[in-house]
Order: sequence, then C-alpha cells, then structure tokens
Amino acid sequence: MKWVELCAGSAAVTLRLLGGEHAIPPVTYQGSKRKYAGGILEALGLRSGRGAESVILAEAGPWAEVWRYLSAGVALSPYMTAWNEQDDDEQAAFFVELREALPTMTGPARAAAWLWLHQRSYGGKGPAAGMAPRHIASTPGRKQGEWRHTIDAPAPRLDTLSALAWPSTTVHHGDVRDLEPFGDAVVYMDPPYQAATRYAYDLPRGAVIEVADAWRAAGSVVAVSEAEPLDLAGWHHLDITALRTMTPRNWSRQQGEWLTMSEPPATLAAVQFELFSPSV
Ligand SMILES: C[S@@+](CC[C@H](N)C(=O)[O-])C[C@H]1O[C@@H](n2cnc3c(N)ncnc32)[C@H](O)[C@@H]1O
Repeated sequence: MKWVELCAGSAAVTLRLLGGEHAIPPVTYQGSKRKYAGGILEALGLRSGRGAESVILAEAGPWAEVWRYLSAGVALSPYMTAWNEQDDDEQAAFFVELREALPTMTGPARAAAWLWLHQRSYGGKGPAAGMAPRHIASTPGRKQGEWRHTIDAPAPRLDTLSALAWPSTTVHHGDVRDLEPFGDAVVYMDPPYQAATRYAYDLPRGAVIEVADAWRAAGSVVAVSEAEPLDLAGWHHLDITALRTMTPRNWSRQQGEWLTMSEPPATLAAVQFELFSPSV
C-alpha cells in the first residue's frame, strides 16, 4: 500500500501506521492527530503498525526537515540530550541564542534546534512564543503548574522514530498543491481547520476540496480531517469526535472532528469502543 500524508505536521497518523501505538510525535504540536490516529487508520481499513510499501509526506513548514532526517535514520536525539543537560539558567540563555541562530543553521542540527525550541516554547506554540518557565512547560491541555517531564521526552521518542522501519519515503517540503496526484494510494490530509489557522502556512477550503478530489480522480482512496463534514458530493462522513480522550478540561472546548472519505468507512468499531470505554 502506498501511503500519502498531506499537510503532515507532526505526522501522528503516519507514525501510527508505521510503528503502532508507541510511535508518537516527538513534541506536542497544535492540531496533532495523536489521539485520533488509531481510529483514522481503522476507518481506512488499516491496522496500526501495519507499515506501508512507500510513504510520501508533504508539509510546508519545519516538520518537513524533521521527517527528512528521521525517515533516513539520522539520529536527532544527541542534540536534544546535550541541550537538555544544561541547567535552567543556561537553557534560558540558550533558547534565545538558538532561536536567533535558527535561520542560518543547516542540516540535522537545524531540525533538532527547531524541535527543541518548540518543546521549550510557551504553551507549545513554537519558538516565537518565547520560552516557558520550566514548571509550566507541560503538555498543552494539562493543568498549569503540572510538570510531567514532557520537557525531556523528545530524545527517547526521537530514537524510536529514527529506528522505525521506514519504507521508501519521500518528503515534499512545500505546498501540497505542487504534488502531482497519482492512483492506487491511500491519502490522508489534515489541513488547518478553516477560520482557525494558527500555522504559518494555510490551505483554504476551496483548495482542500480541489486537492482531495484530484487525488480521488487519479484513483486513490482519500480521507480528509476537518472540524465539520466537507462538501464533497458522493463522499462519506464519519464523526470521530468521541475518539478524543475526554478529560474534564477538554469537554469545555470540545470541537467537532470529522473524516470526509472518498470510500465508505471500513468500520466504526474504534469510535464505538471509545464511546463506551470507562475513560470517557
Ligand atoms: C492540522 S496541522 C496537521 C497536523 C498533523 N495531522 C499532525 O498529526 O501533527 C496542518 C499542517 O498543514 C501545514 N500546511 C498548511 N498549509 C499547507 C500547504 N498549503 N501545504 C502544505 N502544508 C501546509 C501546516 O504547516 C500544519 O503543519
């Protein structure tokens, strides 16, 4: 099976496909599909950890560099480990230094630097947001003041990811509209939610629909995530909102989560399971 992820970001669904439930994005990313990855694969009739014959990841932002190196087995963790060994004061100065150096950096060090800055950033909002005080630098969505050691998480996670059984993988660092659609692939696309863009790059709704339809017309199976069903005639809509882990805090800002699919969903088992599971 040829697998294509468009607007890949931290590529939670691709990681789940390739490495099962232990393959998760190295840092928290706004809009990550980590919580939904298993259900999205299931809707596509794919088992978590099944792998793929080939992978294409398309992303306009810095994640493209991260995937280029990790999919080639390049270790980014030694950078993280060294930077994490600095004490708090050193890290605060280093954050500013590294952020300034980032535009002129090259190679794996640059990909690692962006990840480290992102992980240390306020609310996980990226380097521009500034550095979070260590005691509140926990996963966004957790209680403020709760420090869960997530700050040191990237190094081991990165080792898992560079050691994954990556099939032949191509990373397109640029706009998804520049990719030529082809058939016989499974294509997953997770564009920025309409009217809620917090990314440096965007894909307006009209373009999302055009890109999705072009891949379907080329003969691929396509699934698109959005906060609502997309208006694509003859496509299928699946509400996967319930797949999210419902902590009390999440309830208040719960948003819809939908898959718009070119083929009927393979199964609803994951959605039903989560609906009745005790954690909900
Ligand atoms: C909702 S996020 C994807 C999150 C991803 N599913 C994950 O698990 O992390 C959307 C991503 O699309 C990227 N993006 C936005 N417009 C794009 C475009 N025109 N071409 C390629 N990537 C784009 C953003 O940089 C962002 O990383």
